[in-house]
This record gives sequence, structure tokens and C-alpha cells, in this order.
Amino acid sequence: PGTGAAPRPPRSGSMTKVRVEAPGKVNLFLSAGAPAADGYHPLTTVFQAVRLIETVTARRQAADLHGTITLTLDEPDPDVPTDETNLAVRAAALLAETAGVGDGVDLLLRKRVPVAGGMAGGSADAAAALLACNALWGTGLSLTELTELAARLGADVPFPLLGATAVGHGRGDRLTPLMARGTYHWVFATAAEGLSTPAVFRRFDELAEASPTGVAAAPAEVPASLTAALRDGDAAALAAALHNDLQAAALDLRPQLADVMALAESAGALRAIVSGSGPTIAALAPDPAAAMRVANALNASGLVAEALRADAPVAGARVVG
Ligand code: C5P
Repeated sequence: PGTGAAPRPPRSGSMTKVRVEAPGKVNLFLSAGAPAADGYHPLTTVFQAVRLIETVTARRQAADLHGTITLTLDEPDPDVPTDETNLAVRAAALLAETAGVGDGVDLLLRKRVPVAGGMAGGSADAAAALLACNALWGTGLSLTELTELAARLGADVPFPLLGATAVGHGRGDRLTPLMARGTYHWVFATAAEGLSTPAVFRRFDELAEASPTGVAAAPAEVPASLTAALRDGDAAALAAALHNDLQAAALDLRPQLADVMALAESAGALRAIVSGSGPTIAALAPDPAAAMRVANALNASGLVAEALRADAPVAGARVVG
């Protein structure tokens, strides 16, 4: 429900544990307009869900802990907070508040999407937490209702609920599914240190102010060459149509990313671009063998923290256990 919906009484479900998987994403296209008064940039973006999968397991708590939300990482990571600032915890709290649930939950998080890498791993965690708690608590919100809550948590949170390939408008949160055929073979090169999305958008604004043409108020539309490439399952045509308006800003903040992109392309990628706000580099390979060669070259180079192979598109968040 949006605002104004009456809180529903919790239904006592019989489940004690719900496991949900949700995918990370790559932006195949991202065009940003001038920021609005609220600081957000109007976007046209094309998301593709990739087989780097976050897993959230939600468990009922002992009665004496009622109302608290805890988060544990299966592998502790200093870059991932486990307090109430974690987006998955905020997601569970928002659902509890919206649905009028007094129950708490223990969330266990297994991360496979690079942290602060421009692949929306934290957003996938939040989407997974919404779906898991909705099932655990028996709150019965529809996918549309969960998607509304997701958009309140962050611009990238609705997409992992939907998955596959989709166009995002507005802040990137108003989604329309896009027809895509075939499987795409990606290599994602992560950096040891993440980049902050707000910092990259700020540098985008600074670069636009410094340029003689500035930035258009409205973002560009998705080019027909990109939708045709997806419809045809044509990786080479998709590679040629990849575009990210945030790339120049990410490269300005992290110039060495240009070397990673050049290496990926010389090792056999059709094209390499900055993923979202970076610093992950997404390299599209023509086939799995080429993806392996690109990943090996990147891993041997010492230029990246890790090169991960992942195919796409994959489904959105779903209950798996
Ligand atoms: O919505 P979310 O919290 O994920 O956005 C993080 C930050 O990224 C925002 O605070 C804003 O600085 C920037 N952003 C933006 N325009 C968008 C989406 C995000 O400027 N459409």
C-alpha cells in the first residue's frame, strides 16, 4: 500500500525461515539529465540482471526479541554495515511499519555482488529482504506494493524485484520490461575500493557545468539500435550500443579504470564500459570461452581486485527455500 492504506493485522504464517535470491545488475545504457531540485537526476537507463546472486535468509526470532531486526553476514566484510544503516534492515523495517507488523526478524546475508561496485548489490539485498519478510510475516503485499516500498528505499531497489532486462525512467525506478533474446556473457572487474554513487553524480554535474554544451534537462531515450540488438540476441550489436553517461565522471575520479577497459578489449571483449556509477568495469564477451580469456587476463594483470564471469539476463528476486 502507498500512504493512506490501513495497517493490516499480521497473519500468523507457519514458516520459520524464508530464503530469497536476488540478482545484481549492469546498466546497458544510462543517460542522465540535469539534476532536479531534490538533487536526483532524471534517467533513462536499461538494466540487465546478471548471475551474481545475493541471498537473504529471514528467520523468526525468539519471542523475547519481538520487534528487533538483526543482520548477520555469512562472511564478515568491513565495507558492509550490519546495523540499521544497512539497506536490507531498512527494507525489513519499512515493511514492518507499512504492514503494521510487530514481529522482528533475523536476516542472514550472503553477498556475491561486488560491494559499492555500481552493480546494485545493496539494492538487491533490500529487494530480497522485502520479499523474504513479506513471506515470513505473511504480510501478503503484492509485487506492485513491494515495488512501491522498494522505490522509497532507493532508485535501484525496484529492478532486482523484476529482474531480466528492463528500461528505467524517473530516478531509474519506473520500470518497463524489455524484450531480450539469448544469453550474454559478461566479465565484471572489481576494484579494491568502491566509488560512492552520490560522488559520481556530483562529478557528472561538475563536468557538465565545465562543458560548453552543459547537460540537457531531459535524458536521451533508449536508442533503437540497443532495443534491436536485444530483440535479436546480437551481442556484437549490443556491444556497439552500450552507453553510460556516468562513465566520464567515474574515469575522472579513477583514471586507472581506462587501463582495465583497454585490457579487457584487447583480451577479447567486444566492448568494456563502466558499470553504473562504477568502479566495476563490465566487459561483454562474444562467448563463454572469450569471457574466460578476458577474466584470466584481468586476473593476471594486477589491475583489478577480481574478475568475475556472469551470464545474463536472469530472473528477479524469488523465494528459493
Ligand atoms: O536512490 P539512491 O539512494 O540509490 O541514490 C543514491 C544517490 O545517487 C542519491 O542520493 C543521488 O545523489 C544519486 N542519484 C541521482 N539520480 C538518480 C539516482 C541516484 O542523483 N536518478
